[in-house]
Amino acid sequence: MNVKKPEAPSSNRPHLLACLHQLQHQFRHIPVNQIAPLAQTLELPIAQVQSVIDFYSFFTRTPRGHYHLLFSNCTSCGDLQLMRELCALLKVQQGITRTDGLVSIDETACIGMCDQGPALLVNDQVITHLSSERLHAIAHLIEAHTPVDDWPSDYFVIQSNIRRTGLLLQTPLAQGAGLTAALAQESEALIHTIKQSGLRGRGGAGFTTGLKWEFCRQAQGTAHYVVCNADEGEPGTFKDRILLSDHAHELFEGMTVAGYAIGAHQGYLYLRGEYRYLVPHLESILAERHEQHLLGQTILGQGDFHFEIEIIVGAGAYICGEESALLESLEQKRGVPRVRPPFPVTHGYLEQPTVVNNVETLVAAAHIAAQGAAWFKAQGTEKSAGSKLLSISGDCKTAGIYEYPFGVTLQHVLDDCGAIDAEAVQVGGPSGTLVSKADFARTLAFEDLATGGSIMIYGAHQDLLKVVRNFTHFFAHESCGFCTPCRVGTPLLRKYLDKIAAGHGTAYDREEMARLAKLVKKRSHCGLGQTAANPILDLLQHFPEVCEKRLMLKDYEPFFDLDAALETTRQLSHRNDAEAHLA
Ligand SMILES: Cc1cc2nc3c(=O)[nH]c(=O)nc-3n(C[C@H](O)[C@H](O)[C@H](O)COP(=O)(O)O)c2cc1C
Ligand code: SF4
Repeated sequence: MNVKKPEAPSSNRPHLLACLHQLQHQFRHIPVNQIAPLAQTLELPIAQVQSVIDFYSFFTRTPRGHYHLLFSNCTSCGDLQLMRELCALLKVQQGITRTDGLVSIDETACIGMCDQGPALLVNDQVITHLSSERLHAIAHLIEAHTPVDDWPSDYFVIQSNIRRTGLLLQTPLAQGAGLTAALAQESEALIHTIKQSGLRGRGGAGFTTGLKWEFCRQAQGTAHYVVCNADEGEPGTFKDRILLSDHAHELFEGMTVAGYAIGAHQGYLYLRGEYRYLVPHLESILAERHEQHLLGQTILGQGDFHFEIEIIVGAGAYICGEESALLESLEQKRGVPRVRPPFPVTHGYLEQPTVVNNVETLVAAAHIAAQGAAWFKAQGTEKSAGSKLLSISGDCKTAGIYEYPFGVTLQHVLDDCGAIDAEAVQVGGPSGTLVSKADFARTLAFEDLATGGSIMIYGAHQDLLKVVRNFTHFFAHESCGFCTPCRVGTPLLRKYLDKIAAGHGTAYDREEMARLAKLVKKRSHCGLGQTAANPILDLLQHFPEVCEKRLMLKDYEPFFDLDAALETTRQLSHRNDAEAHLA
């Protein structure tokens, strides 16, 4: 079979996602008559453009309102009661644009504002600290057709909420310090330093960064690439948001250092669509770095190393955080995870050797280049060197960003943020581990409780079944549909939980749900499906009473109430006698 190799979007041709964002903004949907001309301009098949439109939740085929509001449905930064309140105020149905075209309202997955929720997006702008009072004011502004730019500026304030600093946040890196130190040595020596530091990926999987860079450098290819994964879609995670807003110089420095190490001249920052508001700020930092010769053709006055960085904005698909799905998305395709091996280090972007690293990993790499391996390794544990940024939210006094050396106990963290009432903690987001009080002495480290950084705290008053249901709905919604165990299994798990929550679940349902959860975990193609059932399995293991008390005493109860479903037929046939009912 002759398969056409993917081609790089030419430097004078914009990226498909950027064009679709622009069309969506201009027309409030992607008009069908714009698709063929766009495909022709970008030299892409029409079918590819169509499939991309249908894959990403931020693009629609039917017009949204002039004001499009998306409420987060996350357990930390969401409040769907407020969404329903606004729907009632504006007389609009969730998910359906009002007939005058003025407004549409819907829910979306966590928007990364867990330290200052409840939050929503209005036409790509973030509003935090929602209250009933604020909603009334918003309804008024919308009915008065007030442009979003003229809404009170305090609505759009996003706080950094850095509560505890450590290795990375304590010592600001002088611009160019990491790069100057890196360029003073051979790239092999730089990789050796990164390896010596013990730095492991902060995106969740914890692969040794220096080794990843070494494999990539050694791989053959016509070009090498650095990709920064700023998709940050795991509910409860917002630490990359703070690095992007407050430490962007260090991030770009880390990407450039990685470029020098692996022999790349091009880097991409893949930014989640929900953080689009950060683009002007990030672009201004890139421009500054060009002026300072920290990017471009003559980096630090040396002609032999050049490096550029481009920002690509995602469009509301959690799966694009998975590195191979991210690369597909960068290649202007649907974000479907690839079959691995081969891994990105040998066959990544455009099938060329590519390093994909998390934002925090790259910031740490810039610091290590400047301050050395020993400085970093001095903190943490033997298998988890350095520090970790935690995004803390939920039932605590001070949500925000906390940086700790690896090896800190969960209890210590809970004490610091004032979580006096904590009964359960979701460590590492929905794909991580649900920890009960009995295990609060466990440590945060790759060898114990691994985490990409999300710590969601639940007090005694919280209904954990509701929490786990929320996570399971999230996974079912975000499944890309490529493989059967996840595509079919996650909605079935959602159905079991809905049934149990509604009081119709039986012991049989619980057993079937547990059996299915293990199957989805074992048989799914990528990390999404492999972790989607974790909350259910953890709930059943550590909090069995939560399900138990909701179960019916019957052995079996169908999902479907057949007798109730026959009601319309009974009415149409004017029958309501005993024989028109099921026994
Ligand atoms: C469903 C899914 C979502 C992911 N989301 C992210 C993400 O938002 N950010 C991230 O850095 N890594 C994410 N990852 C992990 C990446 O696949 C990859 O391991 C990581 O970007 C590598 O960088 P690191 O070595 O610096 O951690 C995700 C993985 C899966 C399976
Ligand atoms: S596990 Fe889910 S998200 Fe991953 S490839 Fe399969 S369907 Fe897609």
